[in-house]
Amino acid sequence: MAGDALPLLKTTVPGPKSRALALQLHRYESRNVTYVSRHWPIFWQRAAGANVWDVDGNRYVDLTAAFGVANAGHTNPQVVSALRQQANQLLHAMGDVHPNELKLRLARVLVKLTFRRNARVVFGNSGAEAVEIALKTAAIHTKCPGVIAFTGAYHGLTYGALDATHRQHFRRPFTRQLGHFVDHFPFGEIPKYRNKYGAVLVEPIQGRAGIIVPPADFLPDLRRFCDRHGLVLIFDEIYTGFCRTGRWFAYEHWNVLPDLICLGKGLTGGFPLAACVGRAAVMDSWPASTGEAIHTSTFLGHPLGCAAALAHIAEMKRLNLADRALALGVLIAARMPCRGRGLMLGLPVRNASQLCEQLLQHGILALPEGDALGLTPPLTITDRQLNHALKIISQLVG
Ligand SMILES: Cc1ncc(COP(=O)(O)O)c(C=O)c1O
Repeated sequence: MAGDALPLLKTTVPGPKSRALALQLHRYESRNVTYVSRHWPIFWQRAAGANVWDVDGNRYVDLTAAFGVANAGHTNPQVVSALRQQANQLLHAMGDVHPNELKLRLARVLVKLTFRRNARVVFGNSGAEAVEIALKTAAIHTKCPGVIAFTGAYHGLTYGALDATHRQHFRRPFTRQLGHFVDHFPFGEIPKYRNKYGAVLVEPIQGRAGIIVPPADFLPDLRRFCDRHGLVLIFDEIYTGFCRTGRWFAYEHWNVLPDLICLGKGLTGGFPLAACVGRAAVMDSWPASTGEAIHTSTFLGHPLGCAAALAHIAEMKRLNLADRALALGVLIAARMPCRGRGLMLGLPVRNASQLCEQLLQHGILALPEGDALGLTPPLTITDRQLNHALKIISQLVG
């Protein structure tokens, strides 16, 4: 299998080429974007399966799936082939005006995977945009502006999504520009209802807060809470979706269907595309277009993104990646005290950022998630690669 090798380091990490590029990058990119230190970052050159190679020729095992995106493996051959074929045919269409057939095919597949029928899709280009679409849909449907979200929540950084994101680190510089239509309640507890609320937005398993699984009753109780008060229940499955947690979508663990589902990341395996899928009864509150959509964007339903998503979804089915994620998750949890589900796991550690820097020196790519070390590899990671990575983590954590 391509990309199933163990780490091979030819230089110190980061190597001289990565170091030189990082210094140059700081001259041209805003200094807020890429963190550069003596130990960070490496510049990626290519990737396959769960392997990444940097510009210095070092080979790594990836425990991040590059932010939980490459679920069927980096540069999955079927996804690459679909992208190649589509790129030769049509690079860009007119999303909400003269569309491309792939947009229809993907919308149909997403409806079947989620609500099965009687649902509609709006496409976007990033996870944050999928959240914006859900927030707008709920506002149009209920005419109530207030939104309930939760402590620790991460929903993206565009202004609407940022209002729902909890951490002050992201919010503080922009506090005065936020809409302040979102109230945050403790994750895991049922909020107090007030008349102004129209929607509840929640990650079924919190990702960037540190991979936090809520108490067993939380999502079923939230569903009842929304039904009782006529609120739209929005699940942000941008991180948890597409087999990551051992099910196609995390809500399947609790057997609770929301009204709107936000999708991104693992949808395509590596092309920027996102979607909000919703029950027709809620989605059809949007008025029919009479020539100008109320919400759209230039690249909506991009043909390359749709081609990648169709191929990636087919690969996740063919390789039965939900079951594989579940099985590997059980295996990891038996070896270390992780929290999470499937291959969305967090290992609580003392200094997650420092540990990630150390792991990089050992050829393992990992990221902190809150106070935990994130274990979110491509779902195709081999047993050998995983065992190797776990052995190194155990040695470093002690
Ligand atoms: C749960 C969740 N929602 C939304 C987002 C935002 O997605 P994007 O970075 O594609 O805008 C993320 C990104 O990490 C996420 O984890």
